Amino acid sequence: MLQLGVNIDHVATVREARYRGRGFGEPDPVEAALACERAGAHGITAHLREDRRHIVDRDVVALKERIRTRLNLEMAVAPEIVAIALRVKPGIVCLVPERRQEVTTEGGLEVSGNLARIREVCQQMAAAGIEVSLFISPDPAQIEAAAQTGASFIELHTGSYADQLLEGHDAAPELERLRTGAVQARQLGLRVNAGHGLTVANLPRLLEVVPHLEELNIGHSLVSRAVFVGLPRAVEEFLAVMRGYRLGPA
Ligand code: PXP
Repeated sequence: MLQLGVNIDHVATVREARYRGRGFGEPDPVEAALACERAGAHGITAHLREDRRHIVDRDVVALKERIRTRLNLEMAVAPEIVAIALRVKPGIVCLVPERRQEVTTEGGLEVSGNLARIREVCQQMAAAGIEVSLFISPDPAQIEAAAQTGASFIELHTGSYADQLLEGHDAAPELERLRTGAVQARQLGLRVNAGHGLTVANLPRLLEVVPHLEELNIGHSLVSRAVFVGLPRAVEEFLAVMRGYRLGPA
């Protein structure tokens, strides 16, 4: 069954808008994570950015202690963050690129140009019993490189697909890139997740076309919807769409 990982970063974004630097404040992303789990989410995702603009260190520690499903820690390969991951030991880390001025994770990881460093981090994580996923664009060269790192998963960046639809363009070419990327990854022995920009509206087309998906990581749209209907219902709405997925790995 296709798994839902809820990214709770933007719960922390709202907290930080009022309580930055104070060590407390509402809404609590950990309580939000627990509410998502109770509603059926299969995992919780949080991005500890180097600039700590939303999730902060204490959130990661508390998430690891309190959630019952799997913690997926999104992170750059920065030494400081790698050290935190090795200490906290999330179930899995998702390595992402990070730029200080970006609004959100803009592109995929440049794996082929950073093979040695990414391999090194994969080895450190493996030694600590932590799985690794690489957040990459559906680009054949990046997928090929990902297969040489020791990571077991890739997360296909669905942001361009989402943007094409939002801007009223033909999303078919992006969908085809995602489909062939998933097939290529699977042939190379990689397991495949996807995420970024996914909504209840754009998911059905993706799920009709892209095979082998094991987990979707969804944040902004789910948290936005929760403002109106609450987290449990927002989680249930996404799960309802995902239940129709028939192309998962056997
Ligand atoms: N996956 C990764 C690797 C991300 O960086 C993000 C954004 O933090 C997401 C998934 C979730 O994207 P969105 O918030 O657009 O659902």
